[in-house]
Parts: sequence; C-alpha cells; structure tokens
Amino acid sequence: MTQTQQESSAPVSTGRSLETNGLRKSYGGVTALDGASVTFQDGKVNALIGPNGSGKTTFFNCVTGMIRADEGTTTFRGTDITTASPHRIARQGIGRSFQLCRIFPRMTVMENMLAAVRPQSVWKMLGSARDAADQERARELLARVGIDHLEHAEARDLSYGQQKLLELGGVLMADPDTIMLDEPAGGVNPALIDRIANLIRSLNAEGKTFIVVEHNMELVMSLSDHVVVFDRGRPICEGPPSLVQNDPRVLEAYLGI
Ligand SMILES: Nc1ncnc2c1ncn2[C@@H]1O[C@H](COP(=O)(O)OP(=O)(O)OP(=O)(O)O)[C@@H](O)[C@H]1O
Ligand SMILES: [Mg+2]
Repeated sequence: MTQTQQESSAPVSTGRSLETNGLRKSYGGVTALDGASVTFQDGKVNALIGPNGSGKTTFFNCVTGMIRADEGTTTFRGTDITTASPHRIARQGIGRSFQLCRIFPRMTVMENMLAAVRPQSVWKMLGSARDAADQERARELLARVGIDHLEHAEARDLSYGQQKLLELGGVLMADPDTIMLDEPAGGVNPALIDRIANLIRSLNAEGKTFIVVEHNMELVMSLSDHVVVFDRGRPICEGPPSLVQNDPRVLEAYLGI
C-alpha cells in the first residue's frame, strides 16, 4: 500500500458493484425498461436520474428481485442475480428503500427497526438474547439517523421526513454494502434533506456504495460521484455531475425538446 492510500480516508473503489445487461420490461403496451445496460462502481455515490416514467423505479424493482425482467441480466459483484429472490439479493448485500416509504404505521419506531431484519413470527420465536442484540444495534442506528428520541413513538406519528429516516435506519439494520434509495429526499423538508445527504456522505466514507434515484438536482449534483441519466427505459448519458449537467441530451430528455 502506498503512503497516499494509507492516508486517504476516501473509499477505495474495488471495481464493479452492480451491472445490468439489456434489461427489458414491458407492461402491456408500455415499455418501462428498454434494454438498460448500466454499470455502477463499488465505493461510489451513484445517482440514477431521469424524467418521470423513464424507468428508474422499474430498474430498482428488477435489480432487487421485486419484479422479473422480460429480458436481460443483472450481476452483483460477479454473481448472476437475475432470477434471485428479493431475500437472496438482500443477503448478497443489497439494501433498498422505496419511493413511497414502506414502514408499518401502527408499529413503534423500534418495532419497525426490528421487523426490518426479521419477520415478526420468527422474531417472537427467538430468544431474548437475539432481541437484545438487535435492539442495541437498532438504538445505535436510530441515533445515527437522528430519531433515537422517537424510539417508542408509533411510526404514523412521525413526520414524512422522519419516516424516511426510519426506513433508512431499517435498511441499515441488515448492514448492506450497496444501498439503493428511491427518492430519499422526495417530500422531505430541507433540514432533513441535509441530514439525509450527510448520512449518505458519511456511510459512503465508511465504504458503502450508493445508487440514488432522486429528482432534487441540487442534491444529486452535490452528492454524486457518477450520474446515469435514463430516458424512456434506458441510459442516454452518464458521467460525473458537471458533465451530465451540461449535456444537451439531458436537457432534451427533461424538457422534451
Ligand atoms: N406495475 C405497472 N403497471 C403498468 N405500468 C407500469 C407499472 N410500473 C411502471 N409502469 C410504467 O412504466 C414506466 C416507467 O415507470 P417507473 O415507475 O419505473 O418510472 P420512474 O422513472 O420511476 O418515474 P418517477 O420519476 O415518476 O418515479 C411508466 O410509464 C409507468 O407508468
Ligand atoms: Mg419512480
């Protein structure tokens, strides 16, 4: 290891994290993904942007096994996960959040954190030792996302931004290496957007890879190392934020000109 590498606190890119090849998905006459081939690098904050309906969420759903692509393949760190179940994909180290926050509104914040790593039925069968360890971890993560004071509150009583932070906390419970966030700042107030951005930065500095779908361009441009732009179900342009920002193809896609 060189002196520079030793001193650097930035994550070292170890190569390709997630790679898709020709992903295609149609719903009746609507083509949601039109042969999307994308490579995301390990250790980076990657952004996936594009106009409404350009296939970003469908891409996430295919990659995480929530829906099956009609054609194409997905590999994660060299392993083919094209037809793997969401559970297996999660165990490989991919965590994700949803565009419409998925939490249990009538459960407490702590219960939501525990439910994120094991189904309730299993949880009840397991001994209290596991409970205690998970609760300790949940508390640490709740403190990290800044809502530990709300541990006993019902999730439905949290603000939307706090619910997003809870969902992110739940994603972190499984300690994924690669974290896919579908519009983490959507509908969130500016103070909490800053907190989410700082969390992403600090987790990335610890080595987590991010793939973030987001419409908030200021956030995308300040946060990302690499931006992929989707239009009509496939990438039309990619590169560092400064390049993508000035690419006429991107303006054309967004403005439809
Ligand atoms: N379950 C579904 N049934 C029918 N059509 C769908 C379904 N899911 C997505 N689509 C269509 O596929 C296209 C891509 O949708 P998708 O939700 O992936 O876009 P998106 O880029 O995430 O958009 P947004 O930025 O608005 O979230 C759209 O035309 C959408 O209407
Ligand atoms: Mg979407």
